[in-house]
Parts: sequence; structure tokens; C-alpha cells
Amino acid sequence: MELNNIVETEKCFEEDSKQIDSPESLEAVRLKYLGKKGKVADIMAKFREVPVELKKEFGQKINTLKSKIENCIETIKESLAEKATEREIKNTKMFDYSLPVDTKTGSLNPRTIIQKQVCDIFKNMGFVVEDGCEVETEYNNFEAVNVPKNHPARDMQDTFWLSNGQLLKTQTSAAQNRIIRTYGPECKVIFPGRVFRNEQLDAKHENTFFQLEGVVVGKNVTVANLIYFEKAMLKALFKKDIEVRLRPGFFPFTEPSYEMDARCPFCSGRGCHTCGGSGWLELCPCGMIHPNVLKMAGVDPEQYNGFAFGLGFDRLVMIRTNLDDIRYLNSNNLKVMSQFKTKM
Ligand code: DAH
Repeated sequence: MELNNIVETEKCFEEDSKQIDSPESLEAVRLKYLGKKGKVADIMAKFREVPVELKKEFGQKINTLKSKIENCIETIKESLAEKATEREIKNTKMFDYSLPVDTKTGSLNPRTIIQKQVCDIFKNMGFVVEDGCEVETEYNNFEAVNVPKNHPARDMQDTFWLSNGQLLKTQTSAAQNRIIRTYGPECKVIFPGRVFRNEQLDAKHENTFFQLEGVVVGKNVTVANLIYFEKAMLKALFKKDIEVRLRPGFFPFTEPSYEMDARCPFCSGRGCHTCGGSGWLELCPCGMIHPNVLKMAGVDPEQYNGFAFGLGFDRLVMIRTNLDDIRYLNSNNLKVMSQFKTKM
């Protein structure tokens, strides 16, 4: 045997390997070179004839040839498998773009939806929408709205106090002073916000809930104006005229103070589950802004007056959706939340 045999075999293999285009042709080439009666076996059989002094050189060359052929065959095998997978993906139409998408889309918390609706309604009536802080000073939350230290009204709102003497605001009324001071004596502003009270939780009470506060300050503002804006808001929200009534109430920051009830929009006053059979929904605490509050906000109560009201979004949502447990609204329970996408 001559070295030439080895070189020839290698060249031959290179040519043959170029023709491989299927697992069958690969197997044929493999057998031709690596099979029991293949070319490499043939060369090895002739190894015996190689003179002793050349055996080492021949041996190395034969081994190199054999492993070169083996590696090459393995590489071709892998590339054929890859091509087969690509073909399979194409043929099986893995992505059918015409299929309906089964994606779970998120939904806004019903409270957020109603907040946006109510804010839009007031905006359309010329109100400015403002923001308040969640951490407030004791002054803004209490004193500036006519609740001095030791006033019994402080007990109405159990407060989360912070170690620096500030607090988590217990009512959106806490922004009244800042807002009247900022917008001056002629203003129409609403300010929604999250409020906190250190309450025992149950189906009707949360320690974190959402309110909207509204103030209108001007010359000769009357209770009739207050009723007008509330009725207009309710009409836009419930898409029908809603009767309201005022009952006397007590809030330190308003004088006189009222509880405004709305005729139940669901039973038109006949009595139903939502209004607890009374035909009325207690909706909006309100009143004429106390002169002290105006004074503390830099407005002369001899010249100007105004009204203020509060609205609880959680309660509004519960009325609108018949949800009977307020705690769901902070729970992020997707099963509950996603039902309101269409209902609101
Ligand atoms: N701040 C009161 C509360 O959280 C609600 C309220 C009552 C707001 C009367 C007002 C108002 O503006 O006039 O209980």
C-alpha cells in the first residue's frame, strides 16, 4: 500500500460528501467509507503490508483519515436534521395567524372606571381636576377644615399617624385649604384621592378607600347651585333624571351641612336590594363651606361663600354593580374585577 491510497481516499470522500442531500445518501457514503467492507477497512487490511519503518507514519495518517470522515459524517447528519425541522415547521403551519387570539386582557378596577367617568362629567361642567397628597399634615387634614385639636369630630375618623407627626389623609377634604388658597376665591375644583382610616374591615368598611371632593367658591353661591351640579352629575352618570333630597347632617367644615340622598336609580324609589328597600341612596355628604375654612384659606367670608361635597367611589361602584363586599375592590381578584369590564 502507498501513502497515495490514503490521499486518494480522502479526496474521493470529499467529492462524495458534496453529493449528500438526504439521510439515505448519507448512509450510502458512510457505508462506502466506514462500513465493514468500506474503503477505510480496506486500507486497514492493507496496513499489514506496510514496512515496519513506515508503520507509524501510515498508522497516524489512517487514523486521521478515519476520524476526519467520521466527524464529517456527523456534521452532515446534524445539518440534515436541522433542515428537516425547518421543513416540518413550514409544512405544519405552526403559526396560523387567522386563529382567534386567546389572550387574557386586563381590565381597569371598576373604581378607576367610575372615577374617570365622574371626573369627566365635572370637567364638562367647567371644574378643574386637582390632586391631593396621601401623606398630609395634621393642619390640612383637621385644623384647616375646622377640626381643632380635641374636637370630638376627630374621633369620627380613626387616623393612621406617622412617626414624624404627619398622617395618611383620612379625607379628601384635607386638600380644601391648599386648593382654595391656590385657585383663589372664585373656583370650581374637584379632587379625587385615596384616603385611609384605621378601621375594622368588614363588607362595608375598608381602611383604604377612594373619595372625590368638590368645592365651588364664589360670590352668592347657594344650596340650589349645589343641588344643580349634583343632579347634573347623577343624570350624566346614570343616564336619567334622578331626584335628590337633602337631610340635615353634621360636618365641622360646612354650615349648614347636609346628607344628599338620591332616588334609587334601579327601582325608581319603589325599594330594592340596592337601596335596602328605602327607595333612597345616601350618596353625597355636603354643605356650605364654613366661614372659618374660607378664612383659613385666605378668602374673606364676608365677600365670598361656597359649597363643598364628598363622594365615595367605592360606594358608587357597589351601587352600580351590586357588589356586596367593598373588600373586593382592593383585592385585585381578577375573577371579580374582570366581570366589570362590560357592566359599567
Ligand atoms: N370629608 C367627609 C368624610 O370623609 C366627607 C364630606 C362631608 C366632604 C361634607 C365634604 C362635605 O366636602 O361638605 O367623611
